[in-house]
Amino acid sequence: MESGLGVPSLGLELPPFLIALHLLVTRTCKMDWRSMGSALLFPVQMLYYLLKAGARLLLPTRLRDLSADVVLITGGGRGIGRHLALEFAKQGAKKVILWGRTEKCLKETCETIRGMGTECHYFLCDVGNREEVYQQAKVLREKVGDVTILVNNAAVVHGRSLMDSDDDALLKSQHINTLGQFWTTKAFLPRMLELQNGHVVCINSVLSLSAIPGAIDYCTSKAASFAFMESLTLGLLSCPGVSTTTVLPFHTNTEMFQGMKVRFPNLFPPLKPETVARRTVEAVRTNTAILYLPWTMHVLIFLKSFLPQQALEEIHKFSGSYTAMNTFKGRT
Ligand SMILES: NC(=O)c1ccc[n+]([C@@H]2O[C@H](COP(=O)([O-])OP(=O)(O)OC[C@H]3O[C@@H](n4cnc5c(N)ncnc54)[C@H](OP(=O)(O)O)[C@@H]3O)[C@@H](O)[C@H]2O)c1
Repeated sequence: MESGLGVPSLGLELPPFLIALHLLVTRTCKMDWRSMGSALLFPVQMLYYLLKAGARLLLPTRLRDLSADVVLITGGGRGIGRHLALEFAKQGAKKVILWGRTEKCLKETCETIRGMGTECHYFLCDVGNREEVYQQAKVLREKVGDVTILVNNAAVVHGRSLMDSDDDALLKSQHINTLGQFWTTKAFLPRMLELQNGHVVCINSVLSLSAIPGAIDYCTSKAASFAFMESLTLGLLSCPGVSTTTVLPFHTNTEMFQGMKVRFPNLFPPLKPETVARRTVEAVRTNTAILYLPWTMHVLIFLKSFLPQQALEEIHKFSGSYTAMNTFKGRT
């Protein structure tokens, strides 16, 4: 007699792993030689990549030389973007380009970078405006050359609940935080693929994987942006020389979340923007696909995968993330 899965029952209740093993063996035997080879190779590959990742933690990794790279940072005039620009210049990038909407900040950051001896240019560009992105990408290519590292950093937060939010403000966050990356990536990726040399970076947020109330526009846009990067990364697997990095920082000390209160600031202090910038450039240079900042954010994501909803709600209440946005002042 057989179970529904084609496993002989023998009148006994078989443990699930034996059922799985039986299915694996019987189904593998029915495969052609090529598929059978892939099926047998698969666990070996998994083990190899796990060991390789472990070894990377212990052994020094080869760093990407940035001396031929032209780096474009959206929102590069201030906050994390400004520190990213300074860090790329410090780490030897050939040229740094800044995009943003506020000329004063862009100019000031640009002058600081030139003072460090690195060629720097800035352009006014609203990444939420598709036509403007394509137009400024053309101008940039003609005036400065091909971008080889694109850092999608620009973002805004409206910081209200759904019902308290103005429709236009909700749309604006999605246009800038999510769709802006579609346009910038579409503008620069084709040339990276031609050159077989490029890196697309997304400064995302842990809120893309663990949302909080009072920032529904931001969390939604960041979750969509996470999926965008995941899909893009997999799509680029067969494209030599072009890769991606997604950075997921915790609360960082910039103007973006001004007024937001974390319940235990000593236990969960905000990150410094210079730390986020340093670790991001390091991740690009080591070709790291995903970077959680700080690393303890892995624990949150792990807990989310199995804890019951009520336990997760208690975590939000205990940590204060449930009410953190009540005091938010921000700036959009
Ligand atoms: N601060 C945090 O707690 C935190 C935590 C996790 C992740 N992040 C992420 O880190 C990134 C940088 O944030 P931040 O903290 O540095 O914020 P910020 O200080 O408010 O800077 C945001 C930057 O985005 C630019 N920007 C906004 N809208 C733009 C548009 N339509 N077109 C072009 N540029 C635009 C701004 O430049 P202009 O004003 O000149 O346009 C500014 O340079 C964002 O993606 C954010 O989501 C921040």
